Amino acid sequence: MNFQGKVALITGGSSGIGRAAAIAFAKAGANVVIAARRVQEGSEIVRLIKDVGGEATFIQTDVSRSEEITALIDKTIDTYGRLDCAFNNAGTEGKFASITELTEADWEHTMSANLKAVWLCMKYEIAQMLQQASGGAIVNTSSWLAKGGLIGSTIYSASKGGLDGMVRPAALEYASQGIRINNINPGIIDTEMLRRFFQPEDKAAKPFINHIPSKRLGTSEEVAETVIWLCSDAAS
Ligand SMILES: NC(=O)c1ccc[n+]([C@@H]2O[C@H](COP(=O)([O-])OP(=O)(O)OC[C@H]3O[C@@H](n4cnc5c(N)ncnc54)[C@H](OP(=O)(O)O)[C@@H]3O)[C@@H](O)[C@H]2O)c1
Repeated sequence: MNFQGKVALITGGSSGIGRAAAIAFAKAGANVVIAARRVQEGSEIVRLIKDVGGEATFIQTDVSRSEEITALIDKTIDTYGRLDCAFNNAGTEGKFASITELTEADWEHTMSANLKAVWLCMKYEIAQMLQQASGGAIVNTSSWLAKGGLIGSTIYSASKGGLDGMVRPAALEYASQGIRINNINPGIIDTEMLRRFFQPEDKAAKPFINHIPSKRLGTSEEVAETVIWLCSDAAS
């Protein structure tokens, strides 16, 4: 897969799946824009990519703020002049608790970062891609929890289910203009998010991991492979 001359934007690129995707895109020759809130982590990945001869920029962004999304797209174009691939991956687990314990503020927090932000990112990414008139590819990170469930996951599952509802009409709207839009629904992946729930090395985690058919956690690199394939010409 060759992304030479292409520009790839990754939200939530400061850790986990997004970090692995940023590195994979850069290895494949793309100019990479990493968007997230944590400056130190984001800058560190830019340094890693540049150390091995790649090209990347970090743009501090809180995707739950619409003005920061428009600024992100503007800065991406100011920096690299175009946008070819967008991986809308930023997401929060929010608060996992039973419905009666959750608040409206918990709902707003998770929905704005996981669902509204992806709709807004697509809105401005697609507008830019249409202006370039050379197509493009967008991948959004949904989750196995869009269709599955865990006790406490109502808001998170609703936010990811919303992404799965959006992807089909969005893909239909722009397919004829050469813009491909897909979701990925990762299984259980060993990232900072997962480790905020449990430590996979702990004995107590064994029964949970044994429920996974492969009896192991997925890795961010495995997910990143899927993302860059979906963004490549091979997935036309
Ligand atoms: N790990 C799993 O098992 C799993 C399974 C299915 C789906 N997912 C999804 O995969 C995606 C990536 O998660 P991960 O597992 O890689 O966990 P992670 O390491 O915690 O990564 C989450 C990323 O999202 C960013 N982020 C969160 N809120 C943000 C906001 N308001 N604005 C900008 N960036 C924000 C974080 O960056 P900053 O903190 O620097 O802002 C971080 O880069 C998420 O959408 C998650 O829901 C994960």
